[in-house]
Amino acid sequence: MRRRDIAINASTPLITRRRVLTSAAAFAGHTLVCSRPSFAATKQSSRIDVSGRNALRTHAAAKHLFFGAAVNPKALREDEDYARLLRQQCSMLVAENCMKWKAIEPQQGQFQFDDADFILAFAEKYKLKMRGHTLIWHDALPAWVEAGMTSSNARQWMIAHIQNICERYNGRIHSWDVVNEAIRPEDGRPDGLRNNIWLRTMGPEYIETAFRTARAADPAALLTYNDWGLEDESPQNEERRRIVLTMMRRLRQRNVPIDAIGIQAHLNLPNPAGYGAGLQRFLASLKELDLQVFITELDADDHRLPDNMELRDAEVAKAFGQFLDIVLPGPAVTAVLTWGLTSRYTWLRDRDHNSTPRGLPFDDNLEPTAGFNAIRDAFDRRRIQPAVPKPITLLRPGQSWR
Ligand code: G3I
Repeated sequence: MRRRDIAINASTPLITRRRVLTSAAAFAGHTLVCSRPSFAATKQSSRIDVSGRNALRTHAAAKHLFFGAAVNPKALREDEDYARLLRQQCSMLVAENCMKWKAIEPQQGQFQFDDADFILAFAEKYKLKMRGHTLIWHDALPAWVEAGMTSSNARQWMIAHIQNICERYNGRIHSWDVVNEAIRPEDGRPDGLRNNIWLRTMGPEYIETAFRTARAADPAALLTYNDWGLEDESPQNEERRRIVLTMMRRLRQRNVPIDAIGIQAHLNLPNPAGYGAGLQRFLASLKELDLQVFITELDADDHRLPDNMELRDAEVAKAFGQFLDIVLPGPAVTAVLTWGLTSRYTWLRDRDHNSTPRGLPFDDNLEPTAGFNAIRDAFDRRRIQPAVPKPITLLRPGQSWR
């Protein structure tokens, strides 16, 4: 049975919470049954209302969080149901691809802002915050940059690129991913930096230049360093967290304007390392550095799991729940975004053409998945620290505050 044989259509069932828990218990007990899922057995007749007070954005707001998702502009234009779901569930959006350099300036000096403008106009129409993704990255560069960037023009090209985008959207973006994925321990440098085109042409100072330029071009936006592989308790992730922290401390010492860390959270399943103490220590250190934390690209890649829909749903739900239960108590966490809202439009499809990804809050039919429940329940479990009341000081006549 290949996953492509699993028909996903309007009658695809929702997995109830009880069934998910049962499946999770079975999976935890290693009683995996890699057989065709019995859809008839799991069929539910009632549909869950996920609008209004039941929506992710509402549960997030109750715990002082934004909930958002990465957006596909073509789908936003053409798929009304998708557009409706976005504004029903999200209080924040981010463009999945159309703000990347390759999309914005495919030929030098020829800009294509239509898609980014369209998403931002949608966000503003429905009063949703918008993240900007991403200014400086080694990937999604236009061919002319890859071919023509040298040590003599790199700084000038970087600054012009950041100014072009940030000044266009000045004051309208909640937070920019200024530098994306700048570390790669495998490249063997003592500082852990990725040996990318920016490092080769500008040296390690490229990171600092990017943040300073972004601050000047869009002073109101929060400036973020965004990366993957910071989530689990594997030695590799622990090493990546150490490198990122060292980098953040160095940037702070040099008064580089940086406000937040983006923990991408592309969770890979199965993940025996789990989520725990190392991630908690990382969050505490970020708090000490006075950095906000955004969960920027949450999803679960389930294509390595057995061809059993129930088990896959259970594993996705378990991973979302465990991960969010570690990060959400951190008061520095202010936003959670999934990388796509529905498996109708997700990059995870490209990872395994035979599978129907389950690792997002909504499935191909825009029905809530077990992952939806897991995210919402994790929001509900978040304890908000009570605000410390400011001492009231009465001024006597003739006294002043100074
Ligand atoms: O739009 C073109 C299309 O015209 C062309 O025919 C087709 C042929 O391959 O490619 C299409 O572009 C693809 C684009 O996604 C839109 O679908 C690119 O090849 C493909 O490389 C691109 O992948 C994106 C990837 O970033 C690289 O930019 C994924 O959709 C996107 O989900 C992914 O997102 C990244 C984040 O930006 C950073 N963190 C990791 C995350 C997942 O990799």
